Amino acid sequence: MAPDLPTVIAIDGPSASGKGTIAVAVARHLGFHYLDSGALYRIVGLVGSERGANLDDDREISHITLNLKVKFEGDRVFVDGREVSDPIRGEAAGAAASRVAALPGVRSALMALQRSFRQPPGLVADGRDMGSVVFPDARLKIYLTATADERARRRHKQLIDKGSGASMATLLQDIRDRDFRDSTRAVAPLLKCIDAIEIDTTGTPVDVVVAQVLQLYQKAQQKTQ
Ligand code: DC
Repeated sequence: MAPDLPTVIAIDGPSASGKGTIAVAVARHLGFHYLDSGALYRIVGLVGSERGANLDDDREISHITLNLKVKFEGDRVFVDGREVSDPIRGEAAGAAASRVAALPGVRSALMALQRSFRQPPGLVADGRDMGSVVFPDARLKIYLTATADERARRRHKQLIDKGSGASMATLLQDIRDRDFRDSTRAVAPLLKCIDAIEIDTTGTPVDVVVAQVLQLYQKAQQKTQ
């Protein structure tokens, strides 16, 4: 890692593997900034759908992406001055995100914005390609997984907590479809980097996983001192 760049912890993994929850807790514990890169793809998917754009047209969607003004305030997200915290979390925005995320122009249009989150004292970034593409020099790379059943159960609970519902069978199918699209796309596919440490979170409480990541970070820090 270049000595003058703030440290990064990259947390990648499939949909609903617990990345967001774990990354937020680790960032809070260390006093680091947090980047939810999935939110950016969700914003592009949402805005593209709202404008009736063709979600598979790289030129059209990249153009939209480059002109978006995105702002995060804690866990609230704004685009062009409008709050989109709730709509981007819906299943429709998730499915649209997965489509626009396959477009190379969109991925590069989001690169500078993602890297701008790297500020002192450090950053915890979660997504699919944080360790492989956006922050290849991250101090620590974690690959979080959980079985598809467990991830569908977590998504189901999240939706119930928010007052909306969906059948488990539909959610499981959505997760499988998204895994397939995310891991087979040509650009920055979801993959575990060889230098990433895999943690299977199936059946493991959040605080145990957070403690594990913090311990791995401490070890990584000691190695570079
Ligand atoms: O993590 P999430 O479910 O909010 O991500 C939404 C979609 O965006 C998902 O289909 C994968 C894609 N994504 C991506 O391709 N690269 C990232 N760094 C983050 C998310």
